[in-house]
Amino acid sequence: MTATKDAPKNGQPFLTDVKELRRRARAHIETGNITETYGGDVEKAIEILQSVLATEIVCVLRYTMHSIAATGIASESVKDEFAEHADDEREHMTLVAERINQLGGKPNFNPDGLASRSASQYAEGVNLVDMIKENLIAERIAVDHYRELIRYFADNDPTTRVMLEAILAKEEEHTNDMHDLLVAHEGKPMLPAD
Ligand SMILES: [Fe+2]
Ligand SMILES: [Fe+2]
Repeated sequence: MTATKDAPKNGQPFLTDVKELRRRARAHIETGNITETYGGDVEKAIEILQSVLATEIVCVLRYTMHSIAATGIASESVKDEFAEHADDEREHMTLVAERINQLGGKPNFNPDGLASRSASQYAEGVNLVDMIKENLIAERIAVDHYRELIRYFADNDPTTRVMLEAILAKEEEHTNDMHDLLVAHEGKPMLPAD
């Protein structure tokens, strides 16, 4: 078996000794959280998270708009669900913005170019069922996007990965909620289960 970088060598403990940890922490203190053990490309990580941030902002806007504008029979409970999702998306937005800040970046909240930075779209929907469909599509995009990003960050940036994993779990719940609403309001699922 080939010894990996972290495997114990010659019976020596594989953990970095305290002196070395202290030396590393003192060197380049201006880089904040980005210490020598940060395995990823920090510039790339910030760039990716800016697009995640834009996606979450668009989700906040879309769900908020839908929670206010939805009309029709039985729209009240759907409005509540949209409003709840808008709150969740706002939480995601804040988490991602904080992570960008921790990595030394400036979270981009600029409305200019927001739609093109975002993975999901801002779609108004012409009626209740249409709104539910638009949200379901957006959630499915988010789920795919987060799964990919979790694989990308892997062990290079476990903090970002763990944050994205928690967000993904929520997005999967959202997808399920929208799917259930669509079945309830249209009588049949729009998209085949995968
Ligand atoms: Fe979200
Ligand atoms: Fe969501």
